[in-house]
Amino acid sequence: MLTRRGFIRALTAVAATPAVAISNAAPALARTASLSWPAEHDPRYWDKLRDHFLLREDEVFFNTATLGAQPREVVDAVADSMRSLAGTMAEWDYKPDHPNWFTGYSHEDPLRDKLAALIHADREEIALIQNATMGMNFVAGGLDLVPGDEILQTDQEHVGAKSCWELLQKRHGVVWKTVAMPVPAREPQEIVARIEQAITPKTKVIAWPHVTSQLGTVMPVQAISTMARARGIFTVIDGAQAIGQIPVDVRAIGCDAWIGSPHKWLLAPAGNGLLYVRRDQASRVWTTLASGEWANEKDPGLRFQQRGTGNLSLLVGLDAAIEFHRRVGPERWFARIRQLGDYLRTRLAQVPGATIASSLHPEMRAGMTTWKLEGHPPYAMVDAIWAKARIRPRAVSDLWGMRTSTMIYNNEREIDRLIAAAQQVAKEAPKG
Ligand SMILES: Cc1ncc(COP(=O)(O)O)c(C=O)c1O
Repeated sequence: MLTRRGFIRALTAVAATPAVAISNAAPALARTASLSWPAEHDPRYWDKLRDHFLLREDEVFFNTATLGAQPREVVDAVADSMRSLAGTMAEWDYKPDHPNWFTGYSHEDPLRDKLAALIHADREEIALIQNATMGMNFVAGGLDLVPGDEILQTDQEHVGAKSCWELLQKRHGVVWKTVAMPVPAREPQEIVARIEQAITPKTKVIAWPHVTSQLGTVMPVQAISTMARARGIFTVIDGAQAIGQIPVDVRAIGCDAWIGSPHKWLLAPAGNGLLYVRRDQASRVWTTLASGEWANEKDPGLRFQQRGTGNLSLLVGLDAAIEFHRRVGPERWFARIRQLGDYLRTRLAQVPGATIASSLHPEMRAGMTTWKLEGHPPYAMVDAIWAKARIRPRAVSDLWGMRTSTMIYNNEREIDRLIAAAQQVAKEAPKG
């Protein structure tokens, strides 16, 4: 078990170790600015914060929805922790009340407390897992479902959220149904109404994205969960794109389970995930990956995180990412993401031939905007934009276009450059 003392020790060991050079970027291009923290009301706050990122100065990254670019603090915490743990391995006496040098069997209570605070849950409702895919699989595999039971999802699911239900359909005769989503999403009520129409007496689970993967639609998850609860339907919300992009309050949402991938918008290292299962529903979800504490009914979160030997340094990195997020301040962080998203959408409205597939509804939009220039295939367009300007949005569909994630390390000038590069590419390339 990693006690609070152990966790603090793992972290302070980091502080004692010299910073490790980052070897994956050419040193000449790595940022060399000092790591002073910008003052609260500094008009250049975001420019100065950008110095905390290892992103190259001549490259622009708009794909946080796939994987966030971690701040230097996070990368250093992971690297220093690994170095420190490897160097002091002999000190590990393997006593239950002493620190561990690995994770996968332990409580990790201080970290679970921080994650619980972030999404308004209790520690025992939180399991540290690897990613959203693992979380959705744990819920799908853990519920007692019988042939003929129906599951509802959107027709826009990420493979990591839907494949486990397809598997149940093929293997156990559960019926996986999708509900067509309007593109762009117009009104939250329209979505709730479409789900309501799809519900039958056999509907047992609604597995819904909090924020959709390709278009970034912020779903009315509170209304969906309330409606489902009134009918005795289990709701699991896929928050892979939500944590770090928008505020999350699982209590207010009222869902039964919620899943997050903090390596996207929370800027944690990949390999960290989060599963929340509401306390009074936990007994409905069996443990899929069983090890030591698999039957611990008092701390259900703990039973879902028994995954065998894991990398403690990744948890140190997650802790550093949460601290970074807190230091900026969640309100300021979320507002900046939204502000940049709105800036992009407003600019695009003035661009001839630009179409936006993402929602423009104020409650359904945040930091992801999928758009294209009519007649110009998005996959070729992103390649050309990269070759021309070293700017990296991500093409997600021929129909909908390039998904552009606006994160705290981006700025208005980069958005202007992206649009200018797209227009230039369009001018040079014949319409497809
Ligand atoms: C909405 C959504 N759900 C699930 C996933 C899968 O996430 P992970 O690869 O972290 O398991 C993604 C990944 O992009 C996603 O966007």
